[in-house]
Amino acid sequence: MAKEQKRVIVVGGGLAGLSAAVKLAEEGVSVDLFSMVPVKRSHSVCAQGGINACNDIARQQGYSEWLHFKETALGGDFLADQPPCLEMANWAPKVIDLLDRMGVPFNRTSEGQRALRLFGGSLFKRTFYAGATTGQQLLYALDEQTRRWEAEGKIKKYEFWEFLWPVLHEGSCVGIVAQDMRTMEIKAFRGDAVVLATGGNGLVFGKSTMSVICTGGAIARAYQAGAYLGNPEMVQVHPTAIPGEDKCRLISESARGEGGRVWVPRTQGDKRPPNDIPESERWYFLEEKYPKYGNLVPRDIATREIFQVCLDGYGVGGGNMVYLDLGDITRQIGREAVLKKLEGILEIYEKFVGTDPLDEPMKIFPAIHYSMGGLWCTYTKDEKTGGLKYAAPNNFMTNIPGLYTMGEASFAYHGANRLGANSLLSCIFDGLFGGPGIKSYINDEKSVSAASTPQSAYDAIVKQEQSRCDALINSKGTENPYQLWQEMGKLMTENATVVRYNDRLQKTLEACEDWKRRYKNVRLSDTGMWTNQNLSFTRALGDMIRYAEAIIRGAMLRDESRGMHYKPDFPERDDANFLKTTLAKFDGVSDRAVIEYVPVDISLLAPEARNYGKKDSSPTKKEPVKV
Ligand code: FUM
Repeated sequence: MAKEQKRVIVVGGGLAGLSAAVKLAEEGVSVDLFSMVPVKRSHSVCAQGGINACNDIARQQGYSEWLHFKETALGGDFLADQPPCLEMANWAPKVIDLLDRMGVPFNRTSEGQRALRLFGGSLFKRTFYAGATTGQQLLYALDEQTRRWEAEGKIKKYEFWEFLWPVLHEGSCVGIVAQDMRTMEIKAFRGDAVVLATGGNGLVFGKSTMSVICTGGAIARAYQAGAYLGNPEMVQVHPTAIPGEDKCRLISESARGEGGRVWVPRTQGDKRPPNDIPESERWYFLEEKYPKYGNLVPRDIATREIFQVCLDGYGVGGGNMVYLDLGDITRQIGREAVLKKLEGILEIYEKFVGTDPLDEPMKIFPAIHYSMGGLWCTYTKDEKTGGLKYAAPNNFMTNIPGLYTMGEASFAYHGANRLGANSLLSCIFDGLFGGPGIKSYINDEKSVSAASTPQSAYDAIVKQEQSRCDALINSKGTENPYQLWQEMGKLMTENATVVRYNDRLQKTLEACEDWKRRYKNVRLSDTGMWTNQNLSFTRALGDMIRYAEAIIRGAMLRDESRGMHYKPDFPERDDANFLKTTLAKFDGVSDRAVIEYVPVDISLLAPEARNYGKKDSSPTKKEPVKV
C-alpha cells in the first residue's frame, strides 16, 4: 500500500509563513498555505528599514555573530531565551546570502558590495536594506519561490481564507477550521502539523503601525484552544510614526540610521517654523543624553525619552510631537543619494502629511508597532554550540504537539524589547530553521496523524465555528463593534503601553469584563453571506478582548521595569523576582487568563545593567521660558 502523503498547514502569508512553506516544500513536504489576504499584501510588506546580520564587512570592523546575539539579548533586557537568539544570529549571514540569491535588490555600495546601514541598539553598521521598502522586496522574493513550488504541486495556496480554530485530537493538533472570506464557507482541513505565522496584535490597541488585519485573532484563538501565550504584556512602541485618524504610519528607524536627528525647540511652546530655529536653540535630547548611541538608542529608550520630553512641555508647539530632521544628511550627501536610501518612507510622509521631509523636518510621535509577546514555544538546545539542535521536532512548537508558531506570532527572540531589523530576520530564520524540525515531527511514528483522525473531530469544530458565525449574523443586539473596539483601543493605549500603573491597569481589567459583557450584545451592520468583512472583524473583536485581558494581567503582575514595560512605581529591573517568562493560560470556565511563570534560559550570557551610557541633559540650564 502506498505510504500516506503527510501534509503541513501553514497559516499566514507573510514572511514567516512563506519562509516555512518554501522550506517545507524544499524538504519534500506538501503544504497548504492559508492567508487572509493575497500573500503579497501581508503585513510584512510594510517592513521598511532592513534586516540584521554580521557579514565580512561588519566583521572587519570588529562585529561578530556573537555580538549580534549579545545586542539582541541586551536589547530585549534579557527576557528572551538565549539559545534561539544565538542560533538566529549565527544563521543571519546565510539568510542574507539566500535572499540575495533569490533576487532581493539589496542596496549596493559603489564597489558593488551589499550596503549596510546603522540601526538602533548597535554601534556597528550591520543592517542590510533595500531602500526603505525592505519588507516588500523580501516578501516579493519569497512569493516568487512560493509560486515556483505551487507550480511543482508542493504548495497549495488558499488566499482570502481566515483561520478560525485549530483541530485537536488526543491532545495534538491535526488540522484547522477556516472560512472562505468570499463565499463564507466554513471548512475543516487536515494537517499533520500546523504552523501559525499570523503576525502581531496591533488592533488590540486600536491604532498602530500594523495593518488593519493585524488583530491577533488567530493567536488568541489558539490561546483559547489551549496554547499558552508567552510574555503577552511585552508590546513595542516605535519612536517614530505619523499619527493618523485611521491608523499610524511608520517612519522607519532607518531615517535615523542614515543620519536623521531627533530634536525639539529648547524653548517650550516655540511657534517658529523649524527651519527658522537656529542650531543653538534646538535640543537634540537623544544625542545629549546618550552620546554613545545618539539617535540610535533602542526603541524602548527612544520612545520613553520622546514621551518624557512631550510630557515636560517641550513637544513641538507644546503638543505630542517631536522633529525628525534629515536636513544634515541631505546637505551632506544630496537629495538623490538620500532618495536612494529612503524614498519609500519619504513618499509616505509627503503623501500623508503634505510636506517634503527633505525640505522641512518631519513631525513624528511614537506608535504601537510590534508584539514581542505571542504564542509560547519550545526548542532543543544544542549543548555543544549553545544554539539550537537542527531539525529537532520541538523547535518552535507550542505546548500543543503539532502546533508551531513563527514570526511575530511567536514570543521568541525579542524579550522585553525588539531591536529594529531583527524582525525580518526572525521571520525568515524561523521558517528556514523550523521547517526541518516539522518534517522530523510529522515523520515520527509517535505523532498523531491527520489521516487516522476521525472525521468527527473536524466536524465538531466546523459546527462550533458555524454556530459562532450564525450567532453573530443573527444577533439583534445594540452594540456597535467598531465603537467598542475604539474604546478598548483607547484604554489599552493609555494604560497598557509605555508607562504602566497598577491602579490604571486594574481599571482597564475591570473595563475588560465590561467589554466581554457588551460583546455579547454586538450587532453586525452587514449580515450578508458574501465577503462579509464586518463578520470577520467582529468575530476577531471577541478574541482581541481575551488577548487584551492576558496583556493586562501579565502587565499587572510584573512589578518591575524591563525594556518596553515601564512602571514608575517599580522603576528598576528586578531580576530576583521577574527574570522569568510570563505564561498566560486561558481558563475557559472563568473566561480569563491565568498567569504563571517559567525561567528564562540565560545560560550563555549573564544579565548586565542596561543604560546605553545615559548622561544628564536638560534643554536649558535655567528654567525654560514659556512663550
Ligand atoms: O523602523 C523600521 O524600519 C522598522 C523596522 C523593524 O521594525 O524591524
